[in-house]
Amino acid sequence: MASVIRTQVGIVGAGPAGLLLSHLLHLEGIESVVIESHTRRHVEERIRAGVLEQGTVDLLNETGVGERMRREGLVHHGIELRFNRQGHRIDMYELTGGRAITVYGQHEVVKDLIRARLHAGGQVCFEVDRVSVHGFDGTSPRIRFTKDGEPREIACDFIGGCDGFHGICRPSIPDGALRFFEKVYPFGWLGILAEAPPASEELIYSNHERGFALLSMRSQALSRLYLQCTPEEDLAQWPDDRIWRELQTRFETASGFRLHEGAIVQKGVTAMRSFVAEPMQHGRLFLAGDAAHIVPPTGAKGLNLAAADVRVLSRALAHYYRTGSGELLDRYSTTCLRRVWRAQHFSWWMTSMLHRFEGGDGFDHRRQLAELDNVTSSRAASAHLAENYVGLPFDPPGETS
Ligand code: APR
Ligand code: PHB
Repeated sequence: MASVIRTQVGIVGAGPAGLLLSHLLHLEGIESVVIESHTRRHVEERIRAGVLEQGTVDLLNETGVGERMRREGLVHHGIELRFNRQGHRIDMYELTGGRAITVYGQHEVVKDLIRARLHAGGQVCFEVDRVSVHGFDGTSPRIRFTKDGEPREIACDFIGGCDGFHGICRPSIPDGALRFFEKVYPFGWLGILAEAPPASEELIYSNHERGFALLSMRSQALSRLYLQCTPEEDLAQWPDDRIWRELQTRFETASGFRLHEGAIVQKGVTAMRSFVAEPMQHGRLFLAGDAAHIVPPTGAKGLNLAAADVRVLSRALAHYYRTGSGELLDRYSTTCLRRVWRAQHFSWWMTSMLHRFEGGDGFDHRRQLAELDNVTSSRAASAHLAENYVGLPFDPPGETS
């Protein structure tokens, strides 16, 4: 017999979506239990993206988990678009009436959230196995799993499916109930973390004829750099000196820009896709974050969309427990999808404008240069980019969640 844990919301996945959902529910007086297949150390050290929109920063600050982010995060007022060996700054702060982004690693957000949950007596159960979800078509959902080989069960009112793109929640929804929209790109990103001071204070997105490259950072001493590669690129073909040579070429400018080089402490390849599952809910199972949608990283939206989803979900659950009305829960997917598709379009657009597409007669490259010229010279076009990059307000006018 499995030992049964009773809670209000059972959450699968301790990534940013699951942890932030649990944190927001706690602030609403709602109990939850989070289960995670990896170790705490693994999720706290997993290097992912690192750009927080203003709305995500505000949410973390308002809910009491922003202290370290305020101290260590790097606030950026602009980004640079580089093409034809020349840089062009987009002044996001000025173009959006004072909104900015904060560069702070996703794993740092995860560390802060785990600490806050455990400090408040929250239950986060790591290293679970054989997870399955049941009964979410009715009113008594169950999550079954094993911990140290022993069967366990969570009996709850609702399930938060926050288990990422490869999780089990989305595939547990009956066939035919969801519709999937997907676009797979013919390239990936080779990302490195290097012990070298970033050569620019702001992010640089570079369109180069050899392929896209991105300069980002984690601190004044740690650079995070990416270069476009094939989706199945073999890292063994990329010794450190080849990576630096390629990066230096893709960032070169007419005025002699050079990256600072240093020891590469982490390397990885990420494939690129756009994906949406609709609706993001089925009965009492609610999908949030990467479990419901994936964006290519060029728009830096993945973590921010996860935060926006769970904010909507926590409010809808709070409304349900306060009033007994499932009205906001019923609208969860519709509310989230508007923002999700906006971010999908923006991420696809940035990806299409900045990457090299194989084949053709160079038409696409000429078209990209014309677009970049427009985006960096027309105020209206720059403002469009800036507004989307810093992120639309979490509560757009005329929308209630
Ligand atoms: N049982 C328990 N946990 C699971 C299971 C499972 N069957 N399957 C996956 N998980 C865990 C993963 O180990 C991971 O820790 O779910 C978590 C999902 O976290 P993320 O993949 O980080 O997804 P999410 O929380 O939605 O975060 C949004 O934003 O920057 C992007 O893609 C990036 O991860 C990021 C995302
Ligand atoms: C990162 O710092 O990892 C990063 C920054 C911007 C992106 C994607 C990733 O668009």
